[in-house]
Amino acid sequence: MRSLLILATLGFAAAEDGLSAWLRYAPIPHAKHYHDKLPSAVVTLNATEGLPVYTAGEELVDGINGIFGKELSVGDDCERDSVVTVGTVAAYAKNGGCVDELPDLIEDGYHLRIDGGNVLILGQNERGALYGAFQYLARLAQGQVTDDTLTSNPEVPVRWVNQWDNMRDGGTHGSVERGYGGDSIFFWDGVVREDLTRAGQYARLLASIGLNAVVVNNVNANETILTPSNMDGLARIADAFRPYGIQLGLSLRFDSPQLLGDLDTFDPLDDDVVAWWQEKTDELYRRIPDMAGYLVKANSEGQPGPLTYNRTLAEGANLFAHALEPHGGIIMFRAFVYDHRSLDQDADWKADRANAAVDFFEGLDPDFEDNVVIQIKYGPIDFQVREPVSPLFAHLRETGSAVELQITQEYLGQQAHLVYLAPMWRELLDFDLRADGEDSTLASIVSGQRFNQKLAGYAGVVNVGHNTTWLGSHLAMSNLYAYGQLAWDSSSDPVEMLEAWTKMTFSHDQEVIDVITKLSMESWPAYEDYTGNLGVQTLTDILLGHYGPNPGSQDGNPWGQWTRADADSIGMDRTVWNGTGFAGQYPDEVYEKYENIETTPDNLLLWFHHVPYTHVLKSNKTVIQHFYDAHYRGSAVAQTFVPLWESIRGKVDEERYEHVLYRLVYQAGHSLVWRDSVTNFYLNKSGIPDEAGRVGNYKYRIEAEDMALDGYVPYLVDPFEAASGSWCIVTADNSTQGTASTKLDVETGTYSVAVNYYDQAHGNATWALYLDDDMVGEWKGDHEYILGKAPSMYIDGQTATRMTFKSVKVKSGSELRIVGTPDGEEPAPVDYISILPEGIID
Ligand code: GCU
Repeated sequence: MRSLLILATLGFAAAEDGLSAWLRYAPIPHAKHYHDKLPSAVVTLNATEGLPVYTAGEELVDGINGIFGKELSVGDDCERDSVVTVGTVAAYAKNGGCVDELPDLIEDGYHLRIDGGNVLILGQNERGALYGAFQYLARLAQGQVTDDTLTSNPEVPVRWVNQWDNMRDGGTHGSVERGYGGDSIFFWDGVVREDLTRAGQYARLLASIGLNAVVVNNVNANETILTPSNMDGLARIADAFRPYGIQLGLSLRFDSPQLLGDLDTFDPLDDDVVAWWQEKTDELYRRIPDMAGYLVKANSEGQPGPLTYNRTLAEGANLFAHALEPHGGIIMFRAFVYDHRSLDQDADWKADRANAAVDFFEGLDPDFEDNVVIQIKYGPIDFQVREPVSPLFAHLRETGSAVELQITQEYLGQQAHLVYLAPMWRELLDFDLRADGEDSTLASIVSGQRFNQKLAGYAGVVNVGHNTTWLGSHLAMSNLYAYGQLAWDSSSDPVEMLEAWTKMTFSHDQEVIDVITKLSMESWPAYEDYTGNLGVQTLTDILLGHYGPNPGSQDGNPWGQWTRADADSIGMDRTVWNGTGFAGQYPDEVYEKYENIETTPDNLLLWFHHVPYTHVLKSNKTVIQHFYDAHYRGSAVAQTFVPLWESIRGKVDEERYEHVLYRLVYQAGHSLVWRDSVTNFYLNKSGIPDEAGRVGNYKYRIEAEDMALDGYVPYLVDPFEAASGSWCIVTADNSTQGTASTKLDVETGTYSVAVNYYDQAHGNATWALYLDDDMVGEWKGDHEYILGKAPSMYIDGQTATRMTFKSVKVKSGSELRIVGTPDGEEPAPVDYISILPEGIID
């Protein structure tokens, strides 16, 4: 009883497993004190169960009860005092409400008037009324119980979420492609799940941040989504979404008429193909009259499309536009069109994947139907840690565009690293493309304002899963929250969003807010520092997993994410005068800035120019020294995340505290793996030593391969830089225990003992560390059950990790021993052990 009371006073809800995210409605400090200033009843105008106004009434009751412990009655007597009234403007007018003085609302907009306990929430439509109710509740949950009058209209009509959910688990990408929070909440075993509780809960979260549609299946779509029984299933998903005003969108496979319809063609101009799609679309709308529309990935990464028949991309997009038009649906047609098979970096200095989107779409702008939106990834390549804004945004003047952002952190640490993305999105949205020499920020283009387009907006690849944390990490949810806020109002400030989110998600305690703000705001710069600097891209393994370091994997393959690093120089020459010509795809002012090395900012230098490692940056450092310094700086920042988080122990609930701590400890270790891999790779390539003498010199390390081995054997790691000194040790076979030991040549004292090892996906080896006869600790290789990152069975940068024991008393001359017990395909690999004096990072 006592602990329950304590929990209640601290504002922790019962199970803090993350499922309610920022909608916890947890008690705020001094909640009772506000009772007089709150409504006593909820009145919903013209509410129908299962539609948003009804939901708004329920949320208001639940929210005010949760936050303040005040129970509201529900009624329809608008004349009473101290009532929160919620409904559409039309319903309010019909009930005799005066609407003459209300400011104009556009679709989905709302008006909110708070006058003590009398609160009026009016939406332009039902969805808007629900948004208004969530806005009122968000204010209350943040402790803002003040009078106010505000009108809020969304900046854009398209505020969509994409889920890359597969119909089946397995295959190369599992249940959710690039999803790190568990299996699909929509599909299992080829069909729509029976239990769609999570779909409804997801819709609730999305509605609370102003989003309005979810494309439920992968852009790499499967034609079986269109079987009659799966269409029935989709209708059930739409039913689960509808109370929250969230519409369903569908991703389509271009050759479905052939694969599913038994036609011998999928030519978009063929009459039978046109009729097939019309019929399927009609069938869908019969089941889901409010369906949002389609998303199509065509002629990209091996997917079929109109180019297969020498038809234009516009002809392909319009096929769906025509089918959707009678139903009021829209088609999001992806600009991520490129050929991943034929690019050859050796044969052609001018070959460049970054050119593809503008090359493919050039000249087509006037050809798209009015209900087509071109969905463009923010950068020309693929969700890298830093990319320039895609120039295609400046080319589409008649056809509206939507910017595709990635909430799931595919190239950005897969939720095992904390990376708060709003600062990156802020920079992108504020970037001025100077179309026709005029102000043309990305935000103004995707709002439709700059080129006067009706349809435009945002598509966020979210990829939540069945995990109660949704994304696999509690802190990563601030990215989803910020995405919604920015799609509604592109001027939203990253710090303000974070503070609001933290108050609702964790606590009103200022220390908690400060710590989460500091961690989050430092996270993207740190990640960029330790993964890929100067616009060279995230130097991850692009062939496997997109997770750990592997700089060498960028080049020598047709994927086109090249760095063109050789012994002397690095970077993509994308100038017009000497390179791939990509810079010339921008409007003049931007082109001139990037064409000229003098005016190209350091952080995009290697994106646009190929330079010697000795090239001197504006910061006065050479490129290579910048690489070294940045990797040391970024990984050092990641080490500070752990003590920062530890400083708020007891101020957040234990369950989420431990969950976050685990990931931050892991990130601190993996950031060192990144640092060492990338710096050693370029030291090896360039032969230029680190001026500070750090790279390649690790004075606290004991290499496992140098220890006395019994049952363990040395193993040469590939790529070499994923192991300290290129070697690690593995057990001689998968059933023999291995022991590695050494006499310690350190002074007696207190140290941190760090073990760098590899945790592979197929097996759960055990490691035990001893000092003489005392066990320092024992652990298992079980990350695959804990971290949602892409699983890997290799001994490389994806699986390299660190276990640290702090404050270990070590005697000079003691024997250090590690015993590895293999399991499955995991041969208990060990890279090195560091005996670190307090405060040293090595
Ligand atoms: C990336 C990603 C793929 C995805 C593709 C896309 O390449 O790795 O998983 O299918 O983008 O956006 O279509």
